[in-house]
Amino acid sequence: MYTAAVLTVSDRGFRGERPDEAGPLAAALLEEAGYRVAETALVPDEQPEIEAALLRLSGRAALVVTTGGTGFSPRDVTPEATLAVCERMAPGIPEAMRAASLALTPRAMLSRAAAGIRGGTLIVNLPGSPKAVRENLEAVLPALEHGLNMLQGGPHDCSAPRTPGGRGTEAMEP
Ligand code: MTE
Repeated sequence: MYTAAVLTVSDRGFRGERPDEAGPLAAALLEEAGYRVAETALVPDEQPEIEAALLRLSGRAALVVTTGGTGFSPRDVTPEATLAVCERMAPGIPEAMRAASLALTPRAMLSRAAAGIRGGTLIVNLPGSPKAVRENLEAVLPALEHGLNMLQGGPHDCSAPRTPGGRGTEAMEP
């Protein structure tokens, strides 16, 4: 079982003008998938604050999931903060999220979400709406545990059959 943390990035959520539904949904989906959600946090769309939260949470969880701030608004800087704190990027994860999401909405191409590695932690950006959180997270969750096994130096066998179930895994079978 891996430890996860969820960071909601939202000006309106931070000011209390809108309840945070996306963060709790991400946490619930992660728990359903077997993660222990150790911490959740909420910051405004300010790059220094996002970076500070990512640094703090990545010291405490194997997987940090962010929601919000991936679009084109001038205040959307979550991917930039993620790039700033990561040592290695994992572009396949947002590529997979956008590929799966494009089958659902053409607006999926507007997410600039990034994913990367800092130390032993994987950071994954998700868009901000609860609908998008579910659609994007479900697209990549089935593969994340294998990545975390590699990252944490645990047992992993890339030639072993994938865990059955999880949307998209069947389509990826050779
Ligand atoms: N991806 C999925 N699966 N479903 C969605 O509804 N919304 C898109 C996109 N990705 C969406 C999605 C929209 S409208 C935007 S603007 C971008 O995510 C960025 O969202 P954010 O600014 O809330 O991070």
